[in-house]
Amino acid sequence: MSQPEKIESLLKEERSFPPPAKFAAAAHVRSMDEYEALYKQSIEDPCAFWASVAEQNFRWFRMWDRTLDWQLPHARWFVGAQTNLCFNCVDRHVERGLGDKTAILFEGEPGDVRRLSFRELQTEVCKFANVLKSLGVKKGDRVTIYMPMTPELAIACLACARIGAPHSVIFGGFSVQAIVDRVEDAQSHVVITSDGGWRRGKVVPLKENVDQAAAQCALIKTVVVHRRIGERMESGAAPLVDGRDHWWHELMAAESAECPPEKCDAEDMLFLLYTSGSTGKPKGILHTTAGYMVYTATTAKYIFDLKPDDIFWCTADIGWITGHSYVIYGILANGVTTVMYEGAPNHPDWERFWALIERHKVTKFYTAPTAIRAFMREGRQHADKHDLSSLKLLGTVGEPINPEAWMWYHEVVGRGRCPIVDTWWQTETGGILISPIPGATPTKPGTATRPFFGIEPAVMSKDGTVLPPNAGGLLCIKKPWPGMLRGIWRDPERFVRQYWSEIDDVYFAGDSARMDADGYFWIMGRVDDVIKVSGHRLGTMEVESAIVAHPAVAEAAVVGVPHEIKGNAIAAFVTLTADRIGDIASHDGLAKLREELMQHVTHALGAVARPDQIRFTQSLPKTRSGKIMRRLLREIAGGGQVKGDTTTLEDFSVLAKLAEKDE
Ligand code: WTA
Repeated sequence: MSQPEKIESLLKEERSFPPPAKFAAAAHVRSMDEYEALYKQSIEDPCAFWASVAEQNFRWFRMWDRTLDWQLPHARWFVGAQTNLCFNCVDRHVERGLGDKTAILFEGEPGDVRRLSFRELQTEVCKFANVLKSLGVKKGDRVTIYMPMTPELAIACLACARIGAPHSVIFGGFSVQAIVDRVEDAQSHVVITSDGGWRRGKVVPLKENVDQAAAQCALIKTVVVHRRIGERMESGAAPLVDGRDHWWHELMAAESAECPPEKCDAEDMLFLLYTSGSTGKPKGILHTTAGYMVYTATTAKYIFDLKPDDIFWCTADIGWITGHSYVIYGILANGVTTVMYEGAPNHPDWERFWALIERHKVTKFYTAPTAIRAFMREGRQHADKHDLSSLKLLGTVGEPINPEAWMWYHEVVGRGRCPIVDTWWQTETGGILISPIPGATPTKPGTATRPFFGIEPAVMSKDGTVLPPNAGGLLCIKKPWPGMLRGIWRDPERFVRQYWSEIDDVYFAGDSARMDADGYFWIMGRVDDVIKVSGHRLGTMEVESAIVAHPAVAEAAVVGVPHEIKGNAIAAFVTLTADRIGDIASHDGLAKLREELMQHVTHALGAVARPDQIRFTQSLPKTRSGKIMRRLLREIAGGGQVKGDTTTLEDFSVLAKLAEKDE
């Protein structure tokens, strides 16, 4: 891991915003004293705290024998209990008389709106669970899901949870290679997809991507295709393959709406979600049933201060952890209406989000700083045109939010009256770990503030010393919590090495931070080779291996460089094979190859991974031991302007010699 010895934090922010009095008066937690008391309880006796939460708010088919079994670094929560997450998200609410309440409120990019009540959702989920069974899917089998943000995506996930078949959702913005890698690692035979999805008025060819993946990967035996686009796709690309592909609606028509939920063990695998780390291969983060259920539902309840009449909109795609936890599970487990929007924030124009909030009277809105910065750049007039008075709370997630963007969110979207929860967490943590409690915590722009109940964070140095306030260091979690990952799929050794070995006996997953004198945590960013591009988590190595797969490329190094809107952008430094160096001798040749490489990455991984800069170089700067000097490349990419027009190769060998001393 490349990590500066001393981490300097330059951000100084003095503004502070107490919770609005009206909000606090009606909140689940109404004051800092109340928060402190609950937090103290949760830390002094975490088992009693979580047991009491779990008893009150969920349906169990069998109660647990022990709340926690902790054999560092392996935790088992609610040991011996049986439950079903799908039942807790759907059936339980039908049973409590909420059958007619809207569970999923969907708006497609073209403007089509659908509302599914809890009862309708139950019917669809049961039918699809039966479809999966009829295709031979059994408890424990991994099901791959690659779909646009439509209700069917949520239905597919919930159906998997119902029968105890872990899902592995692949973000619809990823492409062929990403599908192949994930299907192979998960050893998954069934893929659920759609004929396409709408994005900026164009069709994302999901089924075509699956076809191409299947051509490279014999594991894919069965494909279920939901018809989102319709005729336009059927007549053209990606026809169904006989014996392998099935229409969703045809399979559904044959199935009954009765499907008893599987009695899942508390520690049965619920899903895998692939995420990028410091090595090339994405890792399958493994979450299990009961702990994840209790943790996501409880964080959602307190951090978003959920109430029965909320219309909750989290704009994340279900292909990311935020969508898993706060579009589907954490929200539906509370019996609250969740909004799903299929398309781009700026389609057909920059009013889309605000129009949607106004139209559906969204009360709680959770999005990423990158989106806020993009809206900010376009100007406040788009938001100003809309009645946003339904909003009661705003949230952010995925990357640090800069104070200007926070203030803009507060004033322009929240109209100065909505608390903002800046929530820090990770794919691995299952749910939010650090966040304001909106009726209690005074907020300051740029900090995720204080830990959630049961969470004990600390800022540490590499040798495990807890650092004093305001010193930058590694953000660690000292005790287990119910939503934590249980492992990396098929790689138990990596799990220990990756998360529990950097500093002895504590969880560390890659962020630096400082804690201020009020005990507020300020996240400073990643210290490993993960780049957050528009809040999306990408690994430098993954992008590098995609680039190197191109025949013209000998070597590639990818770094993140600060970007005003995306947070970070990808810059790639590339050396060419001897026989292709001639390609860039001319200005046109260089431009053509650069474009070709960008396309190549888009094709392999998806547009999210497309580099903003590609620079050709004679050699990559390396240390004597052969490690690429990424810090140097970061400086070059961040500081220098894009040398788009130069036809001479950049030669970093001299720079490398200079920099070697301090690497
Ligand atoms: C970053 C997303 C600052 C952080 C839920 C973390 C944040 C990584 C915040 C995990 C925040 C997430 N402030 N940084 N509020 N939330 N991050 O796995 O670097 O996609 O380690 O999970 O996002 O990204 P992931």
